[in-house]
Amino acid sequence: MSVRSSSVKILAVVAGMLATFLLPATSAEASGPLRTHAAGRGKFIGAALATSPLSNETSYRNLAATEFNQVTAENAMKWDATEPSQGQFNFSGADAIVNFATQNNQQVHGHTLVWHNQTPGWVQSLSATAMRTAMQDHISQVVGRYANNATVVSWDVVNEVFDDNGNMRTSFWYNTLGQSYIADAFRAARAADPDARLCINDYNVEGINAKSTAMYNLVSSLRQQNVPVDCVGFQSHLAIQYGFPTDLQQNLQRFAALGVQVRITELDVRMQMPRDATKDATQATYYRNVVNACLAVTACAGVTIWGFTDKYSWVPDTFSGQGAALIYNESYQQKPSYTAVHDALAGGSTTDTTPPTTPGTPTASNVTSNSATLTWTASTDSGGSGLAGYNVYREQGTTDPQLGQSTTNSITLTGLSPSTQYQVYVRARDGAGNLSPNSPLGTFTTTTGPGGGGCTATGTVQNQWANGYVVQPVTVTNAGTSAISGWTVTFTLPAGHTLSGSWNATLTASGQTITARNLSYNGNLGPNASTTFGFQVTRPNGDTQTAAGYTCA
Ligand code: XIL
Repeated sequence: MSVRSSSVKILAVVAGMLATFLLPATSAEASGPLRTHAAGRGKFIGAALATSPLSNETSYRNLAATEFNQVTAENAMKWDATEPSQGQFNFSGADAIVNFATQNNQQVHGHTLVWHNQTPGWVQSLSATAMRTAMQDHISQVVGRYANNATVVSWDVVNEVFDDNGNMRTSFWYNTLGQSYIADAFRAARAADPDARLCINDYNVEGINAKSTAMYNLVSSLRQQNVPVDCVGFQSHLAIQYGFPTDLQQNLQRFAALGVQVRITELDVRMQMPRDATKDATQATYYRNVVNACLAVTACAGVTIWGFTDKYSWVPDTFSGQGAALIYNESYQQKPSYTAVHDALAGGSTTDTTPPTTPGTPTASNVTSNSATLTWTASTDSGGSGLAGYNVYREQGTTDPQLGQSTTNSITLTGLSPSTQYQVYVRARDGAGNLSPNSPLGTFTTTTGPGGGGCTATGTVQNQWANGYVVQPVTVTNAGTSAISGWTVTFTLPAGHTLSGSWNATLTASGQTITARNLSYNGNLGPNASTTFGFQVTRPNGDTQTAAGYTCA
C-alpha cells in the first residue's frame, strides 16, 4: 500500500523542524524547550490541549506554545463537539486548536473520528444503513474541513475498537454495522484527504499482550486488503502501581515491521494520591522509558502527552484517588517527569555516575517470628537516570546477604528465623545502577515462634476466570508440638491484583502484602490440627498470575 503525502504537508512539518534546527547553539540550548530537542531527534513531542484554558490562561498558552511541536485536541474534534446534531457542524473549538498550532508552528493530530464515547445519541440510534452513511458524512465533513490545511497532518480514524481480551469491542458501531465499519471509516477518511496520515488508536496495547496482538493482526489484515491504515497509536495511559510495559520498544518494533508509522498518542503516568518524591521518581522513569522506546524505533513519529499540567488532567475525574499524572504540577512548575522527558530527548546518553542520596535508618514494625516490615526515609537522585528502588541487606560481617528489593521506601521481609536479631541496612539504586552509601543500621528481633516448629499455610486456587480468582482453601496447620491460640498468615498479590472478598479470617492489605489473622472461632489449634480460610481477588484481564508466598506465624 502506498502512503501518499502531499508536499504541502511534508514541507510544513520540515519547516517546523528547520526553524528549531537553525537556532544558534547557545549554552541555554542544553536546557532548551522539549520541542527543540525532539526536533533535533527527528521526532515530535506533543500535548493534548483543552480549549478553555487555551483561551483563558496565559501560562497554559505560553507553555503549550513553547514546549511542544505537536498538539492533539483533547475533546474539541470529537463527534459530540463537531456534529452535535445531524448535519449541524460546529468547528469553533477545533479551529481554535488548529489556529493556535498554525501560529506556533505545530502539527495537529486529529482526534478522533469514530469512537463509542462522546458520540451523540442520534448516531447511536440510527439503522445500519443510516449509521454507515452518517459515519461517512461525518468523516468527509470533518477531515474535509482541514484537507487543505497544512497544520493538520494525521487522524485517529477509529479509536478503541478492541476489548482488553482482544475481541472486538461490542460497541454500537460493531453491533449495528459489524467489523466492516473499520475499513469503511478508513476509506472515507482517505477519500476526504488523500494526504493525511490515518491511524488506529487504542489503550492497553503498549506491551505485547492479547489486545495488542489482536491489533497487530487487524492492522496486518486491513493492509493486505489495501485498507489505508498508515499508523498505529499507542495511548499509553500508564500507572506506576501497575508496572511499566518493559516490552514497549519490542512491541512498537513489531508494528513498524508491518510498514506502519507508530506513535505514542496519549501518554500520562498516574499515581495513587498523595504525590511524594518516591512516586515522582518512579513516574519520571516511566516517562523516560516511553520517550527512549520511541527514540529507539525509527518508525515512531513522536510522543504526545495527554495534557501537560496536573491542573488540567482527565485522571482525577476518571480514576478515583489517582492523579498527578503529567509533567508540570498544578502551578505550572516542572516535575521530575519533565526533566526525564527533557533529558531523554536531549540525548540521554550522558552517563549517570551520581548515586542517589543515603536512605534513612530502616525501622521495623509488624515483627513476627518470621517476618517484619521495614520503612525508611526515601532517597533522592539528581544524576539524571532517576531513583529506581532500594536493596535491603543484612549486616553479617564479611558478605552481607541481600534480604530483598523494593521500589518504594518500605518492604516486608518474610522467611526470617524466629528469635533472631537482625541488623539491616538499605541502599538506594538509580536507573543507571549506581548504589547510594549504606543507610545507618536498623535492628529488630523476631518473636519466638509457636512451640517447637511453628505453623504452615498453603493456598489452593479453586476457581479462576479472566480477571479474577478464588483461593480456597488456605490451609493453616499447627506444625508444632504445643497448642497455639492464634495465627497470622501473610502472602503476596501480584501487581494490579486487589482483594474482593474473604471468609473465615480478617484480611488486611499493605501494598501487595496481605496479612490474614484468625477469627475468634478458629485461632486455637492443637499440634497437627488445621483450619481453613479463603479469599477472592480481582486482577487485570488476561493476567494468569495468582497469590503466592504463603507464610504462617
Ligand atoms: C478523555 C478526555 O481527556 C476527557 O476530558 C474527556 O472527558 C473524556 O475523554 N482515550 C481517548 C481520549 O482516546 O479521547 C480520552 O480523553 C481518554 C482515553
